[in-house]
Amino acid sequence: MSSALDYERIAHLYDSYLQFTDDLPFFRQQCQSGAVLELMCGTGRISIPLLEAGVNLTCTDASPAMLAIFQDKLMARGLSAPIVQADVTDLDWQLVFDLVLLPFQSFHELCTEVEQRKALAGIAQALKPNGHFICTLHNPKVRLQAIGKAVSHYGPFPRVDGIGFVSLSVDLNYDPATETVRGWQTVYELDAVEHPIAEHRLAVQFRLITLEDFQTLLESSGFLIEEVFGNYDYSLFAPETSPYMIISARKIKTF
Ligand SMILES: C[S@@+](CC[C@H](N)C(=O)[O-])C[C@H]1O[C@@H](n2cnc3c(N)ncnc32)[C@H](O)[C@@H]1O
Repeated sequence: MSSALDYERIAHLYDSYLQFTDDLPFFRQQCQSGAVLELMCGTGRISIPLLEAGVNLTCTDASPAMLAIFQDKLMARGLSAPIVQADVTDLDWQLVFDLVLLPFQSFHELCTEVEQRKALAGIAQALKPNGHFICTLHNPKVRLQAIGKAVSHYGPFPRVDGIGFVSLSVDLNYDPATETVRGWQTVYELDAVEHPIAEHRLAVQFRLITLEDFQTLLESSGFLIEEVFGNYDYSLFAPETSPYMIISARKIKTF
């Protein structure tokens, strides 16, 4: 499996430091009907609100540890959903879904064009004719402004299991030749008085992509871009300032 970060090592801490919710109303609104597949779903940050809203959702991710936490959260809430452990570059559904979601800029974790093309081919195959694919990406211009300057620190965040805190430090650098960001993310486990008791230093790698290059990849995989938003409030994508490229594409060809 290819992965930008070893999620197996930090799955038990992920929900404590990743509490982003700005995208939830957007995804709820996009999933009004039909069968939906969510890729790289992790611990179900988006999946659970969608399931609570009654979405007919299938979820998949490559990390057993992330999926185990997701499954525990479903049980605790009396929810259920098909959860499939799979690499996004090796999907195996045929014409099943009306909508495929790839949220939280996770497409960037596919660091080679070969992986990106394999993922898009599997997504196209999984969609019914005219089905939609929504993929959120970083706007490279804006994302790069925060890379290669200084180490960023986040937290401390209270742990969701109630036993202390979690904080993060992230140190990234950009290689323009490969359009790849590489570096380190250190996740610290802190006790109740915020003293470090454990640390997990993980290599990070992700590849940025321009809208033009993503469009070329999509078109050669049988998709047509219908809309590009710059944020979850549906504002149109502005190349100089938008934080994201939120792409809605329709499957127009079957190979
Ligand atoms: C940043 S997390 C996002 C999780 C979730 N979508 C969220 O918004 O919180 C990226 C997820 O992608 C998964 N992942 C990374 N590489 C993958 C691959 N090649 N195939 C499937 N899942 C992968 C990781 O296991 C992780 O759960």
